[in-house]
Amino acid sequence: MIRVRRSGPLSGTVGVTGAKNSVLKLMAASLLASGRFTIRNVPRIADVRWMGELLERMGATVAHDGDVLTIDVPDTITPEAPYELVERMRASIVVLGPLLGRFGEARVSVPGGDDFGHRPIDMHLKGLEDLGATFTISHGYIEGRADRLRGAGVLLEYPSVGVTENLLMAAVLARGTTVVDNAAREPEIADLAAFLNRMGSGITGAGTSTITVEGVDALHAVEHTVIPDRIEAATYLAAVGMVGGRITVEGARADHMDMLISKLREMGVKLESSPEGLTALAPDRLRSVDVATLPYPGVATDYQPLFMALLAGADGVGIVTENVFGGRFRYIDELVRMGADIRAEGHHAVVRGVGALSGAPVRAPDIRAGAALVVAGLAADGETLIGGAHHVERGYQDLVGNLASLGADVAYA
Ligand code: EPU
Repeated sequence: MIRVRRSGPLSGTVGVTGAKNSVLKLMAASLLASGRFTIRNVPRIADVRWMGELLERMGATVAHDGDVLTIDVPDTITPEAPYELVERMRASIVVLGPLLGRFGEARVSVPGGDDFGHRPIDMHLKGLEDLGATFTISHGYIEGRADRLRGAGVLLEYPSVGVTENLLMAAVLARGTTVVDNAAREPEIADLAAFLNRMGSGITGAGTSTITVEGVDALHAVEHTVIPDRIEAATYLAAVGMVGGRITVEGARADHMDMLISKLREMGVKLESSPEGLTALAPDRLRSVDVATLPYPGVATDYQPLFMALLAGADGVGIVTENVFGGRFRYIDELVRMGADIRAEGHHAVVRGVGALSGAPVRAPDIRAGAALVVAGLAADGETLIGGAHHVERGYQDLVGNLASLGADVAYA
């Protein structure tokens, strides 16, 4: 349980870890070659531990020392992702591409739904079928086969992050050229492509919506440093936006956060980027804006709960539109328990800023909503007790400690 009391203004400097949503895919990509991988700037979070467990279940050896992760991949592995691990972390689906690419077979549990509601994997399967894989689904498992994948043109119906990643990891060892159109453009995709290229693959265009992959016969193990976590950085910026103050987020890359920066500026936060990171100067109370989530470079869906918290306390009325995940408004009732004035209808929420929120016991349903409840608690009278803290720990190495170091009254209770 996390306990938050009204705080602020915040001040000081805080660092960010490497990006969770990049490192999980780099770990999956390590299945593409045998040998020792060294990945630096890796956060000590539950999701990394679970992905490590999954790789170990397949036969790899994984060690996490400080922020350095080493993965030793043997020549042969068991290409299977069991239910109990996939159910815990649906990002495990990204092992499908590398397993099919290198071993021509994969047995991966169907992930099922999660806190965001129904989450289909149809596009993952369709994209890999375009490269020549075949799938059967029985007893809750996807069984995939391919002799050797062959390069092809793949047009994505939607620029899905996970599908783009699975396709890149499958295509690097395919025969011939793959062109992925309407690809996701998130910075984590470019990081994965950089990792794969260091391993010897031929990927161009990552970070744009057309990515070309020249298949090669073999790849080799590498060292790599993960990009900084833009969502973690956004969480500290939201915290200072919530209660005012001046903080520097060391290592944050402004070029990965353009839309967030522009929205926060519209709300009244002054932001400056320097080689050190991002410095934010925030007034006591922000102005409301409208926010609509979209694939990168739009406002990330992972920022959405943070904006909801900011708007709940801001001056004016803002409309939040969630375009990426159908079920990502479930935490709104928790904010309402804290006195927020939010009316949600379908994928729109109308948020009327109230001066001060009111501390209450609430429950975090997922990582980002949990972080947003912590941020909201900073501007709430009295005490906010956030249950479900384990969700927050899936994605943040030390959210509580870092916010406390900026002067926030937050602790584990
Ligand atoms: N979708 C389909 N069919 C598919 C795949 C996706 O309909 O086969 C839909 C999804 O249901 C969703 C949309 O496409 O409506 C976008 O999903 P996407 O595949 O882009 O998301 P993801 O790869 O499953 C990653 C992050 C999420 C982040 C999203 C969007 C990881 C491990 N997860 O998920 O991060 O919200 O991209 O940017 O990289 C988090 O970190 O807390 C988190 C949830």
